[in-house]
Amino acid sequence: MSNFERPNVRNMKGYAPGEQLSAPDIIKLNTNESPFPPTKRVGELLENFNYEALNLYPDPTSSLLREFIAEMHGLTPRNIAITHGGDEGLRLAMTTFVDPGECCLFEDPTYSLYSVLAGIQNAKSLSLALNEDWSLPNDFVDRAIKSEAKLTFIVNPHAPSGRFLTAKALSAIADSTPGVLLIDEAYFDFVDTELKYDTAEIVKNHENVLALRTLSKGYGLAGLRLAYLVGNEKLVAPIREKTADSYNTSRLNQELGLVALQDQDYANNVWNRIRIERSRLSEELRKLGFKVNPSQTNFILVESSELKINAKQIYDRLRESGVLVRYFDTSRLKNAFRVTVGTKNQNEIFLEKLSAIC
Ligand SMILES: Cc1ncc(COP(=O)(O)O)c(C=O)c1O
Repeated sequence: MSNFERPNVRNMKGYAPGEQLSAPDIIKLNTNESPFPPTKRVGELLENFNYEALNLYPDPTSSLLREFIAEMHGLTPRNIAITHGGDEGLRLAMTTFVDPGECCLFEDPTYSLYSVLAGIQNAKSLSLALNEDWSLPNDFVDRAIKSEAKLTFIVNPHAPSGRFLTAKALSAIADSTPGVLLIDEAYFDFVDTELKYDTAEIVKNHENVLALRTLSKGYGLAGLRLAYLVGNEKLVAPIREKTADSYNTSRLNQELGLVALQDQDYANNVWNRIRIERSRLSEELRKLGFKVNPSQTNFILVESSELKINAKQIYDRLRESGVLVRYFDTSRLKNAFRVTVGTKNQNEIFLEKLSAIC
């Protein structure tokens, strides 16, 4: 091993992505992708895409895409930064707002990339254990203040539990956190319509809030790598104008993202189908004796503590039978596995295999 890398990089662990097996008969319910393809308009555009224009750089400001997204949210393009997947948005927040040695705060458990990004930046990570019911601990804001957190991450709805926080709760946190509050809304599309809040309102009322949205989950475009940040222009400008790569969004991504977002009928139809399957799957899992956390996402956290068989064994046996779910080998999650809501057919097969195992 060379000694060329920075000491913090040498000593840190990298992010471990979920398995990406591609055998056609595998039922892949482990990385929260949409089980449905993107809108047909994506396919039509790909068929007619002017490949000859690829000799030219893309629009560095992604202006058409930003204008469309801004209009969707009732904001201006100055409030929007386009990123190469949500992961790039998170990385840009880290490199734009946190100096090495400064503190970032997050929930425990949460999306494990946050601590990896803090490690790369040589920032301090403070992770606060969530309560038994996955709510935030009462001292969350106090700890943010005491640690002078420059960046606080909250996933809403939460991964991996599926818990949902209201706009009121988020606003109260934003009012008191000393630094930037990044609300990671990767799974927001799947929230029940009557619960959804207006992200733009939070952003308009709090100049320290940055929200992240991705097309990976709700628009079935995980393979494309396209997401965006929404925030006060004072937060968005340094990202767009300084820390993001000048051409971080390819010509193809800008055009495909636009047609996917324009087809809201298709997107809403997919979200509804997922919500229906989420309820059905939760119900069936409860009948099998599992503790099922109420979820506002496209996945369900399933706890097996009251069963004779443990979660790791379930994960292994499902895997052997061709169904992939996600197991997290941590003390808090060792009795649980996370399953992505699939199509009705995929869910049926998963339930059948699971019930045979139990
Ligand atoms: C909580 C959360 N945030 C952000 C992301 C990033 O998604 P992407 O980079 O595909 O947009 C993920 C991906 O799984 C996630 O689970």
